[in-house]
Amino acid sequence: MGWRRIAAIAALASLAMAASPSALAQAKKPAAAARPASAPAAPGAAVYAEQFRTVCAACHGPNGRSDMPGVPVLAGQPSLYTITQLFLFREGRRSNEAMTAIAKTMKDDDLRGFSDFIGTLPPVQPTAPAEPVDAARMSRGQALAQQQKCLFCHGADLSGGQQVPRIGGQREEYLRESLNGYRTRTRAGYTQAMIEPVSGLTEDDVDTLAYYIARLPGVAKAGSGN
Ligand code: HEC
Ligand code: HEC
Repeated sequence: MGWRRIAAIAALASLAMAASPSALAQAKKPAAAARPASAPAAPGAAVYAEQFRTVCAACHGPNGRSDMPGVPVLAGQPSLYTITQLFLFREGRRSNEAMTAIAKTMKDDDLRGFSDFIGTLPPVQPTAPAEPVDAARMSRGQALAQQQKCLFCHGADLSGGQQVPRIGGQREEYLRESLNGYRTRTRAGYTQAMIEPVSGLTEDDVDTLAYYIARLPGVAKAGSGN
């Protein structure tokens, strides 16, 4: 279901990315006479905004607010965190078929261009959860988060900063998959920061934490412009 749709879009997206924005900018550059060959023009911010709309938005949503299971919300992610993750995908250190195909042609300028653009996508304001919240599960989630110091690094409002991702308002199933990835060492981090916090957690604890984080009241949801 979801994954088949992602695979189909990934095939199209990697075609679209067959030449990265910076490679295209270089190719379009007038030959020899106009500029010294050693100074390729870096594509401007507008190019990445446009590429985001035509390539990335098919999965991550027009404002970086994904409504596709397994695809993370990107809006409001600090650009330093995003650039580290695009780097990990490009180098094959964070494994995901769709994202590896997309990141493999990116030059350093592209990693920065996409990350900077994503950093400008505003997080959405909180909305009341659609279904009633399980209060017992929420307080168990809160206790786990306190015990594992999640808010210490991710911030009281879970908005992250610098190399630390925003996790407030992230999709619940993606939070669960990420935490299990760190827990089972199938997801490599850019740093070791997430190893300690998930060590000793059971799969059930991870479910509870993801439930709690996805519903934490007063936390701006990531994604979907203002
Ligand atoms: C075919 C669907 C698809 C397309 C198109 C796509 N992505 Fe992704 N992206 C994903 C999936 C799925 C993940 C989650 C991978 C995982 O679980 O490890 C992801 C993860 C990411 C992450 C990591 C986010 C985080 O919170 O760690 C970034 C950054 C990202 N994508 C940027 C982009 C950019 C930039 C583009 C366009 C150039 C793009 N993606 C296009 C499917 C897609
Ligand atoms: C020592 C600081 C620190 C602590 C404590 C911490 N984190 Fe993290 N977290 C990070 C950093 C840094 C990253 C990015 C790591 C990487 O490069 O993959 C991260 C990544 C994540 C991600 C992946 C987000 C994404 O978009 O893919 C999730 C989910 C997460 N943390 C949740 C938690 C939870 C839940 C806790 C408590 C159990 C926690 N973190 C505790 C620093 C921390």
